[in-house]
Amino acid sequence: MNSKTSALQQAEKLIRPLALQHVPMGTDIEAVIDQWLHAVATDSQLYCNPLLMKPEQLKEVVMANLKENGAFVTRELFFNDVFGVLKLKPTPNPKFRFIDLFAGIGGVRLGFQQAGGTCVFSSEYDKGAQKTYKENHGEFPFGDITKINENEIPEHDVLLAGFPCQPFSHAGVSARNAVGKKHGFLCDTQGTLFFDVMRVINSKKPKVIFLENVRNLERHDNGNTFQTIKNEIENSGYHFSYKVIDSSSIVPQKRVRCFMVGIRNDVGPKFEFPEISGEPIPLKSILEEKVDDIYTISDKLWQGHINRTARNIDRGTGFTAHAADINKPSNTIVARYGKDGKECLIPQSGKNPRMLTKRECARLQGFPEEFKIPTARTPAYKQFGNSVVVPVISILASKIYKDVF
Ligand SMILES: C[S@@+](CC[C@H](N)C(=O)[O-])C[C@H]1O[C@@H](n2cnc3c(N)ncnc32)[C@H](O)[C@@H]1O
Repeated sequence: MNSKTSALQQAEKLIRPLALQHVPMGTDIEAVIDQWLHAVATDSQLYCNPLLMKPEQLKEVVMANLKENGAFVTRELFFNDVFGVLKLKPTPNPKFRFIDLFAGIGGVRLGFQQAGGTCVFSSEYDKGAQKTYKENHGEFPFGDITKINENEIPEHDVLLAGFPCQPFSHAGVSARNAVGKKHGFLCDTQGTLFFDVMRVINSKKPKVIFLENVRNLERHDNGNTFQTIKNEIENSGYHFSYKVIDSSSIVPQKRVRCFMVGIRNDVGPKFEFPEISGEPIPLKSILEEKVDDIYTISDKLWQGHINRTARNIDRGTGFTAHAADINKPSNTIVARYGKDGKECLIPQSGKNPRMLTKRECARLQGFPEEFKIPTARTPAYKQFGNSVVVPVISILASKIYKDVF
């Protein structure tokens, strides 16, 4: 964890008893404390249970407490106490405020932060991702979004949600249980998370909605799923637009994702996506020079890949295992990459191929070199596989900022 200044420790101690009253189910108190400290530092609204107090009143009480005890002198000093140790901090005078749902390790957050925004609320329930998030963004995310009352979430201009893609991927489609439909979505827990996003949108009415999902979202259930998402957003009073973007001219990875933007009808016209194109970047441009042998895959695993390839070639279908061509972009890195590395194995002379290192995965997603990777390999692969190409988000976020704010 980041080393804290004594001023910050004192501030945390002062607000803890009051924060305790506002902790939602499934969330750690640390999340409320961090949100409050960040909100004071960036002059944003505090997460607040309105049945206990109005958010403005709560902010006054918290500020008075901090001031009386000498923990808050000026916002500038407080900002330095709160964000000082972080390499990837927001600007002290944010141009807009956003919330980060299904936050993962904050790839979407970083892109919007780079465009001048500041985060005022985040939610992510995976323990490993929470750890990485805290380490890099200084904030422990709130937990399960299904347990969070939308009225308690602070006011924001932009809502970000890379909602889970499993229900929409090919694997998810065949695995799902075709019982009970809800608004055109098959009724499994993951598939209904989109409606938790809508719950927040309909309560808070942010100016902009930014959603990210797998490419296949467009075609899932003969287009019905996508149509439902579009209708829901439009019926809530937003202009909806989307684009499927390949990131291989920005990072050396063929990651094709569906990006959706909603602009509130009274705020502006439909969002026009910028053109993102160019020569594909070679994988070799991000590889580390000296890599430990622990990354070399075992004979058993490599033989398994070879056998599976032979079977698939016979059948004429499916995946064929081979080491990657490092002069081309890699295949898409997915959450399960750590299982056998089949999406991207780096050739080595005289040895079996190797897995990507954690840092190489971070680079494939365009994360800055300062980004810390505090978890072990398996959770780190999952976290980066679930994440986004940060520079692509940054390009889209800058265009949104330019058009809307
Ligand atoms: C596709 S990933 C998004 C990753 C993120 N965009 C990033 O940059 O790292 C979806 C995330 O949603 C989280 N998630 C799934 N269900 C959740 C829930 N009910 N509440 C909070 N987080 C959830 C998962 O743990 C996963 O990290």
